[in-house]
Amino acid sequence: MLRIECCVETSGERWKCVIQERVNEELRSRFAAARRVAVLTGAGISAESGVPTFRGGGGATIWEWRGRPVTELSSAEMLATDPILVWEWFDHRRGLVKDVKPNAGHEALARWELRFTAFSLATQNIDGLHAAAGSRKVIELHGNLHRGRCLKCAAMRELPPSPLAVLPPLCSCGAPLRPDVVLFGEMLPDGAYECAEKAAEGCDLFFVVGTSAVVFPAALLPRAARSAGAFVIEVNPEETELTPRVDATILGKAGDVLKQFEE
Ligand code: OAD
Repeated sequence: MLRIECCVETSGERWKCVIQERVNEELRSRFAAARRVAVLTGAGISAESGVPTFRGGGGATIWEWRGRPVTELSSAEMLATDPILVWEWFDHRRGLVKDVKPNAGHEALARWELRFTAFSLATQNIDGLHAAAGSRKVIELHGNLHRGRCLKCAAMRELPPSPLAVLPPLCSCGAPLRPDVVLFGEMLPDGAYECAEKAAEGCDLFFVVGTSAVVFPAALLPRAARSAGAFVIEVNPEETELTPRVDATILGKAGDVLKQFEE
């Protein structure tokens, strides 16, 4: 079994991260003893359901669409200049997730919600798969693909199935909706980050699953957890920028790895 120990010096502090391929007894007993657990997920948790990731590692990735980078398509600037293109892009993504099902990783996290004294699940994903797996409380840091928000009355509306017949879709008040997702250049939903940060700072075990951890402020959460004294475990088939800054990295797929904690 692969087991590598790497150390980094950051601001005079020496951190040690153990990189391994399977969950070992030490990690399993930490899991068994934990009372307060917080989790941050990213696109990788949905990769085994067939949802493309953004930056690789999952087989299918989506970084460009119609020749434009996703950062441009998913931007506040694009919404202001070409809202129909933004809707077409998000409706395309709704089409990609239309028939997908939650996988073993989502299902494990739904079980964990019932297991611990305190449990918090924050996701950067907008696909709704945590809720579909049975997670009842999900902090959606980047919004939800299946909702629109009225540009006039600010009401949230569940969208009809993809493909949308009318673009932009309309609110019952008659005004256009925008996707209820966080675009580049926009703030996170009110209170969402603060809620996730509070859980990160109050937990004894923090999991960071399936994220390249390069998009902020979500990427600050594992750092906040560790600074507050939590043991931080990363689950990802690849090393990330975060790897040297966590306590343990399990190099594997979320669906395989998360259930190993329960064995
Ligand atoms: P990325 O696409 O950047 O990273 C996905 C991560 O998942 C990579 O590190 C992969 O190695 C890992 N991965 C792939 N398959 C996996 C599996 N089966 N199990 C576990 N991990 C796996 O996605 P995010 O980090 O979520 O923001 O991206 C963050 C944000 O960037 C997104 O929420 C989105 C995007 O721009 C907005 O749209 C605002």
